[in-house]
Amino acid sequence: MSREPDLTVLLLGSGGREHALAWAMAQSPRLKNLYALPGSDAIAQWAQNLPGDPCDPDSAVQAAKDCRAKLVVIGPEAPLAAGVSDALRQAGLAVFGPSRAAARLESSKAFAKEFMRKHGIPTAPFEVFTEPDLARAAIKRLDAPIVVKADGLAAGKGVAVCRDQNEALSAIDDFMEKGSLGAAGRTILLETRLHGPELSVLAFCDGQSLRALPPSRDHKRLKDHDEGPNTGGMGAYCPAAVDPETWRAIEDKVLRRFIAGLSADKLDFRGVIFVGLMLSPEGPQVLEFNCRFGDPETQAILPLLEEDPLALAWDCAAGRLKPGTARARSGASICVVLASEGYPAKPRTGVPIHGLESARDQPGLAVFHAGTSRQGDRWLTQGGRVLGVTAVAPDLAQARDRAYEAVSRIRFDGMQYRKDIGGKVPALR
Ligand code: AMP
Ligand code: GLY
Repeated sequence: MSREPDLTVLLLGSGGREHALAWAMAQSPRLKNLYALPGSDAIAQWAQNLPGDPCDPDSAVQAAKDCRAKLVVIGPEAPLAAGVSDALRQAGLAVFGPSRAAARLESSKAFAKEFMRKHGIPTAPFEVFTEPDLARAAIKRLDAPIVVKADGLAAGKGVAVCRDQNEALSAIDDFMEKGSLGAAGRTILLETRLHGPELSVLAFCDGQSLRALPPSRDHKRLKDHDEGPNTGGMGAYCPAAVDPETWRAIEDKVLRRFIAGLSADKLDFRGVIFVGLMLSPEGPQVLEFNCRFGDPETQAILPLLEEDPLALAWDCAAGRLKPGTARARSGASICVVLASEGYPAKPRTGVPIHGLESARDQPGLAVFHAGTSRQGDRWLTQGGRVLGVTAVAPDLAQARDRAYEAVSRIRFDGMQYRKDIGGKVPALR
């Protein structure tokens, strides 16, 4: 059914995920005008960038009014935790992004774990601590492999998967005594360590219904074979072929209970729920909830979607999402992240990028910009993760070939990337 373009959209954010969202929304027959706050030089290809701080509620409301937005799509987690969606709704706007209260499912791991416990969602056993002495005593008492997690948002730095007691004690010291994460680490969780492959399940959600996207897998470690430090994500592929019985368990024990929990707790969740799962021998266990699109999962998922993500976002904001599974194209996609020298600890920026022209604009290929800036006709690096080279093909092997062929054309000093994205695919059951 073709319709007149009727949606003027304001997109909040500036990273690779937002570049992919802008790319996808620009193809929507529903899109009338696209604006971004603050956007990026790359996003400016499809949107008009507006100045201001996406985490400041007043600034976001002003931008939405200035551009006469009908819908605001919130990309990152920080505006959600800052209450931006609530302020926009109070100002009468339709918003794709959960309320601040619902976004605590991401911004407080203790809140998320209590929610899971209360609603019977499978997750590792845990305890919450605000006193370092009590946390240390628990480590000694538990005497088992432990994961130490900071309660608050920590951009991927708030989780220590510990091999022994000493590592756990030192994580407690870092988070609680030295304050390495500021307020985010004042409260911590101790969690039993689980084993198994990880899976990212994202779903559009309007608070009553879910529309699941094809499952995907991120590669969080910096180096090949899952070595090196944790990062925001070095690449992703989609779909991840999940055994049907496991998928049923995810639907029954995680997704259905999640929706029931939202209703029971009266949480206004109109946005995307991203469930980080570990497929343990005891069945799927939830590691975390994120209340926004994953980065770089989104770059891999969106090119495979057959349905219009803008129409789905609008249905979520309006509270009339049809439940089920989002229609996806056949085939597979892969996103390979190109990162700066020194990432994740201390990325070097301002480095010229070469070869972008010859890599982009090929069929089945998109180069999403995560951290770049434009200087005349040159592109420079401007962040830790710089580009997400994304390819779609009839199968994963061909998608990998296509993506890595494009990667081979791009270079910048100190460029780091993994050569094994989508390479060794574990059995997901
Ligand atoms: P989270 O932010 O809670 O998803 O944790 C970040 C990463 O730490 C996950 O992607 C896992 O690789 C790892 N992790 C988190 N919780 C556990 C756990 N209970 N057992 C083993 N690994 C975990
Ligand atoms: N790729 C993991 C995340 O977006 O949190």
